[in-house]
Amino acid sequence: MDKIIIRGGRRLSGSIPVSGAKNSALTLLPCALLTEEPLTLRNLPRLADVDGFQHLLNQFGVSTSIAGTRPEDFGRVMTLQATRLTSTTAPYELVRKMRASILVLGPLLGRAGEATVSLPGGCAIGNRPIDLHLKALEAFGAQIELAAGYVRAVAPDGGLPGGTYTFPVVSVGATENALMAAVLAKGTCRLHNAAREPEIVDLCNLLVAMGGQIEGIGTSDLTIHGVNRLHGATYQVMPDRIEAGSYACAAAITGGEVELRGARMNEMDATVAALREAGVFVEDRPSGLFVAAQGPLRPVTLSTAPYPGFATDMQAQLMALLTRAEGTSVLTETIFENRYMHVPELTRMGARIETKGRTAIVHGVAGLNGAEVMATDLRASMSLVIAGLAAEGVTTVHRLYHLDRGYERLEEKFALLGADIERVGSD
Ligand code: UD1
Repeated sequence: MDKIIIRGGRRLSGSIPVSGAKNSALTLLPCALLTEEPLTLRNLPRLADVDGFQHLLNQFGVSTSIAGTRPEDFGRVMTLQATRLTSTTAPYELVRKMRASILVLGPLLGRAGEATVSLPGGCAIGNRPIDLHLKALEAFGAQIELAAGYVRAVAPDGGLPGGTYTFPVVSVGATENALMAAVLAKGTCRLHNAAREPEIVDLCNLLVAMGGQIEGIGTSDLTIHGVNRLHGATYQVMPDRIEAGSYACAAAITGGEVELRGARMNEMDATVAALREAGVFVEDRPSGLFVAAQGPLRPVTLSTAPYPGFATDMQAQLMALLTRAEGTSVLTETIFENRYMHVPELTRMGARIETKGRTAIVHGVAGLNGAEVMATDLRASMSLVIAGLAAEGVTTVHRLYHLDRGYERLEEKFALLGADIERVGSD
């Protein structure tokens, strides 16, 4: 299994492109199931999760082809076509590997009137149930059955009649599944307290480009008027705000300055506010986001929250940055339980962090030291890379497959910014 070796202490500087958003890609790809016409997605990041989703879609009879991008380019163009669905079952072997596979439930139900998807099971960052996905589909008129580890959803003849669902807590995935089922409903579907992350807006924009009728895009109240059929489209995946925020933290902790080409500041308000509170200079430029360290880092107190709040997916990376602040920061994780797996590893690198339930108290230290570390989720792994870039000595990050799931060509991007970082195969 590969690992990454970082010799810390280099100041990052330069300009890198921001890749297409992983979490957008994973909800735009299953939209191919909604039409027999071709769907072309541009700026798809080259990630293990995208490859995994492509493989999953192939199981339903979706043909996929990748247009001639050169290996040195970031991003890819993929055309997907589901002329005829050959299956509506997502088997355990595939769903188990990638939680986001659950996002085929809504579009399969919408297009074929039925879907059978393995339950995703546990996950490293908490239980992550799918009850809200099922309740929303039920509210639109689907019949849901659970048996032998699978969920089966069936629509009445002629399609989902429609209905109204109010989410008790905000769920990104459940909002996405509900939207993808609702666009082909017979009637009108309404969602209240829906997620309004930029990735949801990206999904809505694609569905509208395919002929869907959605009102309230960008708000937490969505009205979807079902249409008989959707057509193909060509669509550009939005830039990855979490990737951009991660590189911003890396630049700041090394005392550096980077330009994140293509990043959209208006989708990163909470991250930008946190960076500025930490004393980092952030500027919106026509080409993207410019981030520069200026003087010592200051402590920050915040809680994660659904968009437009501070993203749970940025918590670990911000915490890595704050290990070097002058003072004590307090971070509270409100979205997922058990999302502090990076804490013991950061502590091994010399950080001083205490956790009390959902709160982490980070006492800034003057320096970090390199160590052999590993993490059990994607963003936690990135926080260790960020710490390693600022640490004295060598940091080896194991279990690289987590980073490969979500960061396109990470070591190449860091190398472009002057980091001393290499990927090596381990035995
Ligand atoms: C998505 C993102 C993930 C991000 C998360 C929160 C993708 C592929 N993943 O995950 O990177 O960290 O949003 O921004 O886009 N919940 C339930 N029942 C459900 C669904 C969710 O109780 O049926 C709870 C979860 O346990 C969690 C909260 O709702 O506490 C939010 O989860 P959700 O927004 O659904 O996360 P995902 O869509 O899985």
